[in-house]
Amino acid sequence: MSIPISRPIIGLEEEEAVLNVLRSGMIAGGAKVVEFEEAFAEFVNADHAVAVNSGTSALVVGLAACGVGPGDEVIVPSFTFAATANAVAFLGAKPVFADVDPETYVITPETVLPLISEQTKGIMPVHLFGYPAPLPELIELAEEKGLELYEDAAQSHGATVENLVTGAVGKFAAFSFYPTKNMTTGEGGMITTSDPEVYRVARLIRNQGMEQRYVHEVIGLNERMTDISASIGLVQLNRLGEWTERRRKNADFYQNNLDPALNPPKVSEGIYHVYHQYTICPPDRERTIAALEENGIGYGIYYPIPTHVQKPYADSAPSLPVTEELAEKVLSIPVRPDLEEEERSLIVEVLNESVSA
Ligand SMILES: Cc1ncc(COP(=O)(O)O)c(C=O)c1O
Repeated sequence: MSIPISRPIIGLEEEEAVLNVLRSGMIAGGAKVVEFEEAFAEFVNADHAVAVNSGTSALVVGLAACGVGPGDEVIVPSFTFAATANAVAFLGAKPVFADVDPETYVITPETVLPLISEQTKGIMPVHLFGYPAPLPELIELAEEKGLELYEDAAQSHGATVENLVTGAVGKFAAFSFYPTKNMTTGEGGMITTSDPEVYRVARLIRNQGMEQRYVHEVIGLNERMTDISASIGLVQLNRLGEWTERRRKNADFYQNNLDPALNPPKVSEGIYHVYHQYTICPPDRERTIAALEENGIGYGIYYPIPTHVQKPYADSAPSLPVTEELAEKVLSIPVRPDLEEEERSLIVEVLNESVSA
């Protein structure tokens, strides 16, 4: 038996949607992209959405539309995919790395506050593994210090905290639709915002700075999504709610049956976790991995090397004890919507046995 950690769920509806676009002859960005943007903005509860060709493009275009550039600092976690910091650095600004909370794995006002300087322009939490960062507290801190709040929502489609929807709170948010994400468009991303100026400039930057053909108002690139991708996204968005519920059911099963020694996630009151990943901290990761491998159970280590110690950032790396410890301890197990009951049970059995004496 082989149980993959994740795989995209693509069905007949997606196939048909793509075929329709291919047969229409309009295969670049057009009506489907607009429809997808409108549906996604409504889903997130934001005024606007701008579809782009990856989550990384969503971060870069969103930050650029907020005016982030040389001389600015943006406070980000290091315990995330490197795209978060890379987007900041690529624009010539400085990512300043904050440590994360040891139980929720997200940045908090306590870890961010000491890093605020004269150069800080914004704070960009990542809702890691589908667990929302403490948005109410981060909004308060940002307002008090006169900073902008951006959201890396690449892993948090539909997650909420005290009824705040991730992706609707920051000046902009960036979503990813990479195939391992909770919904996919192949490659793809979305900027969501309720700021009309960020919306206007993001659309310009996505399209070579043009609103009107061959009139370039700002420097932009081609970051556009195709109708092929958008047509897949529309089908996937319709199914996302059902998939999220299945992820949550799988997570419930784990919460109720895993040995506490594996340190299953702790979810606070008021959090709607969408379990992009189900991540545990076993006492002996190598031993647990060996047991999973022996039983054909897929797993992932997200992320084995924190961003702040990666080559481009290592020269000025701060010490982030929680991040560094988590990188050595975390282990993600399958929580995908199409996991079978027997697979779930086997996973629990193997994991629990790996921590028994
Ligand atoms: C937290 C985070 N930010 C940004 C990205 C970048 O998204 P993409 O791979 O679609 O460019 C990802 C996805 O891999 C991610 O997990």
